[in-house]
Amino acid sequence: MKRYLLTPGPVTIPPEIALKEALPIFHHRTDEFAMIYKNIAKGLKYVFQTENEVYVLAASGTGAMEMAVANLLSMGDKIIVASCGNFGDRWAEIARGYGIEVISASVRWGKTIKPAEVERALKENPDVKAVYTTFTETSTGVANDIKAIGGIVSKTNAVLVVDAISGLVGQEFRTDEWKVDAVISASQKGFMLAPGLAFITLNGKAWELVDASKIPKFYFDIKKYKKFYAAGETPFTPPLTLITALQESVRLIEERGLKNIWNDCKLLAKATRAAMKALGLELFSEVPCEIVTSASVPVDIGVKIVKTLREKYGVSIAGGQGDLKGRIIRFAHLGCIGKADLLAGFTCLEMVLIELGVKIKKGKAAAAVEEILLRT
Ligand SMILES: Cc1ncc(COP(=O)(O)O)c(C=O)c1O
Repeated sequence: MKRYLLTPGPVTIPPEIALKEALPIFHHRTDEFAMIYKNIAKGLKYVFQTENEVYVLAASGTGAMEMAVANLLSMGDKIIVASCGNFGDRWAEIARGYGIEVISASVRWGKTIKPAEVERALKENPDVKAVYTTFTETSTGVANDIKAIGGIVSKTNAVLVVDAISGLVGQEFRTDEWKVDAVISASQKGFMLAPGLAFITLNGKAWELVDASKIPKFYFDIKKYKKFYAAGETPFTPPLTLITALQESVRLIEERGLKNIWNDCKLLAKATRAAMKALGLELFSEVPCEIVTSASVPVDIGVKIVKTLREKYGVSIAGGQGDLKGRIIRFAHLGCIGKADLLAGFTCLEMVLIELGVKIKKGKAAAAVEEILLRT
């Protein structure tokens, strides 16, 4: 059965990138590797919209999250975590694991972080070392106003650390301009690669914390990555197939241009929201992001919708995580998901809802998508 991967990561890998992943591997302590790595380094600065170095590590996104905690802090330090979902909560879990005191500026899942809350928490706790938050909270489909938070945190001694794992590439994000001190991301979302690579960039303010950090570390010691970066190398054996593919990913992103990609996702997000509403489903997020849309579904059929869609029609969407399991569905529109994928996905979703007893008139979802697409 043909598969449609409409999940917010991993995403479908375009053929240009998949072909690179199939090339024979080569040795990494060579000029050949250094040239590729230097090319990638330049491209990543564009993707992250930063003048600072972006390091590549062999890990899933959570590895970069752990790196951003273990390298910036010391046991007993205090941080603010502004979370609005499962992945935001992960910052607090990692930090507590390292003996860090966590102050919450979090909101209920589905809501967006309130920059004023972050400001208040910073005023009440002038000794915090950092604020950790999430750009697009994939578990709820919420976008956070990182620009506003950056403006607030930059006026204090604390650094702002942002998880842009799912939102980078697909939604406007400007590391330097928005005064974000540390950003992390991963390969299996906007980069359209297989899972396995993570990225991290720090500015000078964040590096000051690195120099003061006393947490013991080895594989995730960012100073090692910095040292090898200058020579076009990574400290440990890199996943060469993914690195070769990353070069192609960055090339494709540069070729299409970030602004065009942001607009592409925006259009698909608009059509997705319209289709959800046409199916009688209420949007779950207070401020929906541009890379995934979540909607509430009847709890008695929530899990069945995702399973039936995948097993009967080959269409994978995501369900809810944690307490939201069975209560929401999440439909992605990032990477190489296109207009026709939306039409196919929503037509099948509509059929599954009808099969599960939801009263909807046939053709509503596709008509809503068409309406948006025909207007642009
Ligand atoms: C916003 C966000 N943060 C963190 C993660 C965790 O990344 P990984 O599963 O690659 O470790 C994800 C994965 O979906 C994510 O979307």
